[in-house]
This record gives sequence, C-alpha cells and structure tokens, in this order.
Amino acid sequence: MIKDDLICENLSVNENNELMFAGINTLDLAKKYQTPLYVVDEQRVRYKCKTYVDAVKEVFGEKGEVLYASKALSFKMLYGIINEEGLGIDVVSQGEIYTAKMANFPLSKAYFHSNNKTDSDIDYAIKNGVGYFVVDNEEELLSINEIAKINNVKQKVLLRITPGIDPHTYDAISTGKVDSKFGSPIETGQAEVITKLAISLTNINLVGFHCHVGSQVFEPDVFINTADIMLNFISDINNKLGYLASKFDIGGGFGVRYKSYQSDIDIYKNIKEIGLFIKQKCKSLNITMPCICFEPGRSIVADSGITLYTVGTVKKIPGYKNYVSVDGGMTDNPRYALYKADYTVVPCYDMKKERDMKSIVVGRCCESGDIIQKDVYMPSDIKRGDIIACLTTGAYNYAMSSNYNKIARPPIVIVNNKQDYLAVRRETLQDLISLDL
Ligand code: LLP
Repeated sequence: MIKDDLICENLSVNENNELMFAGINTLDLAKKYQTPLYVVDEQRVRYKCKTYVDAVKEVFGEKGEVLYASKALSFKMLYGIINEEGLGIDVVSQGEIYTAKMANFPLSKAYFHSNNKTDSDIDYAIKNGVGYFVVDNEEELLSINEIAKINNVKQKVLLRITPGIDPHTYDAISTGKVDSKFGSPIETGQAEVITKLAISLTNINLVGFHCHVGSQVFEPDVFINTADIMLNFISDINNKLGYLASKFDIGGGFGVRYKSYQSDIDIYKNIKEIGLFIKQKCKSLNITMPCICFEPGRSIVADSGITLYTVGTVKKIPGYKNYVSVDGGMTDNPRYALYKADYTVVPCYDMKKERDMKSIVVGRCCESGDIIQKDVYMPSDIKRGDIIACLTTGAYNYAMSSNYNKIARPPIVIVNNKQDYLAVRRETLQDLISLDL
C-alpha cells in the first residue's frame, strides 16, 4: 500500500510512519506554516529542468531550446530557479510577464502565447522587450505589426499552427485539432495564408512555427506524428514561398504520474526518439533542421509539489458514503471539479495504518462538486485535526486557484536541502478586500 503512495522519489516515510517530503516531515511543515499549504521541492524542479536541458542539448546541440510553460505554476522565486537552470519561458498574459520581470527574468527569452492578445497586451509585451510572440491569427499579426511600428521594433514572431492532431487526452486540454480555438489550421489553408502575410509585413520578423497538441500526453507517437505533419508543412512552405523556418516549437504536454498505476515518462528517452525522427525527417525532406523548442509545464513542476490539509468534519452516512472534509478544496485545487483529475491522497500522520474506509475527500466550499478526490481509502478513525496530503499538486493548482467563497489562497513554501522558507505568503482577510473601494 505504502509503495502505491510513494509515487515520486521525493516522498518517503520516517521511523514514526509519518510522511516526509524532500527530507522534511510534512507534519512539521503543517504545524509551522498552518494549512492548507502548498509545498514545492526546489531540487525536484531543478532536476526536471536539468533533465530537459541536458536531453535537448545532447540530442539537438545548439539547435535545441527548453521553455518552461509558466501557466503551470508562476511566482517570482520560481522564475529565479528557471532562469538559473537556463530555460526560457512561455508566458500568456501581462500578469505572467510582469511576474517574470519582477523576478529579473530576461524577457528576451520569453515567448508570448495566447489566442487573444489585446492591443494593450501586445503593447505591454513589446515595451517590455518580450523576445518572441507566438501569433495565433491574422488580426493579431496585423495588430502586432502596427504596434511594433509605433514602438520602432521589428518583432520576432512564430506562427501557431494547428496540425490537426487528436492527442487522446481530456477534451478541455486538447488543443491540436483542426476545430481548436488555437492557431491557424494547415488543412483549411489558413496556415499558409497567415505565413504569406507574416512574410509581407514590415515590422514582423518571422522566425518559425509553433504548435501544441495537448497536455498529459504519454505516447511519444503523438509528438512524432505532430512533428511529421509540421515538418511537411515547413518543407511545403519552403517550396512554395521560399521561406525556411529557423525555429520549430513543438509545444509542451508530457504527462506525469498522479497515481501509482500510471507509468512515469522517461523524458530523456522520449526526447531522443522525437529527435531521431525529426533529424531523419529533415534529411528526407532535404531541409536544414530548424532549432527545436520544447515547452514543458506540468512535467517540470507537478511532482515537485504537494498540498497539506487539516481534516475537519468526517461524515459517515451508513450504507452510502464517507466524507473526509479538509480546510481547502476546489479553491486551491479545482482540477477534480474541472477534469475529474486523478490524485493520490494520503494520511501524513500514519502512512502504515490500515486504510479501510472508502472516502470522498471534499473541500469546504458551498457546492457538492467541491471534491479533491473520490474513492480514497483512509483509516476509519481519521478525525478532525489529522493532517493529510494530496500529492503531485505542483502544476495547475496554485496557478488555477481562486477566492471562491472569499476563501484566502494558501501560501507556497519551498523546501530545499532540508531547509524550508516562504515563497508566497498566505492571503489575509485584508487581501481579500484590498481591491474593494
Ligand atoms: N505550451 C502551450 C502553448 C500550452 O498551451 C501548454 C499548456 C503548454 C505549453 C504546457 O503544457 P504541459 O507541459 O503543462 O502539459 N489546466 C489544465 C492544463 C492546461 C494546459 C494548457 N496548455 C490542467 O490542469 O490539466
């Protein structure tokens, strides 16, 4: 049973059967910082960054880049770590650009995505020296050209192309299909039209193409099929328009393990396989290989994070259900409510105790959909005050948190070399009305 809980190397159990995270006792963290609490393992983030950077360097040499997709988790100290590890970033809003800027992240290494950048977004990004725009559509391209002209800049851009791939993942996080809201499809001819337009504009410097087909993808075939379609497109454009892309950004999407039955992805092996394919494909198409960018988000931070909660009400409805309520909920982790996402939830205080009570772990928000996880087995005597953990919450938890029911967001504590320190403080009641006039 314990074996099933320790789904990442940074989890262990001490001699008192308590859950340790990155070498620190989770009960001590809960006591010191109170709950709910996000905890981030700095060494794990660094290890994941290094894994990507080393693999991409080995496979593509100077012609490879790794960009961290900030949308998975974004706060100032994290940008510092990402910068030290030598990655660029994918940003999608003025808020992410601002946070990175305030962390002194070099914005020349930022790629600005989003399917609907406002003129204000475009102006803000240009004025702040964001290196690249990943352009979604023609209207946006024309706006960037105009605003770049006013700012006396020739803006580097990549065009977001829709390859028409179904990555067989949850619909809400699948983005590569022809009818997606993102990008310009190859199939309808719109990808070629926007490429022609980009080449013709005076304040646009077209450096290449981007695509992103989905998230929580486990099979390398999805990326290989994507690369196949995209490289055919790149070669086609070269033949028709005499324009050869110098960058091809294949997006993010590598899956992570949320439950023990899921396998962990070998990032190095995947990148090697994808790289081998890309090199052969470029050779067979007789084109110079563009610089290949990878844009992982989830797989950099997901298993670097856990969330600690204190149990409140335990409600047993004989013959029906057992609810274990915690002091957080869909406000700090909306992913079950949104996607029925898998999570492993464990009793930190006694990892070896028999868990014979099938439970639904729920939050404290005023709606029934406020669920962290169903079908969790907990000790039948679990009670108010016990500490439990939801594992693998580093990605898309804090990033998607809300103040629904006027609940304050938890803080983020970083653990590193057996030290712990606050990276984001807990929201206060005052924070909750700080915008009210
Ligand atoms: N690049 C682009 C353009 C993206 O749209 C995304 C994610 C990524 C990179 C990073 O993908 P990752 O490596 O993290 O899978 N909120 C959802 C996930 C939405 C992903 C959106 N795009 C969730 O909680 O599962």
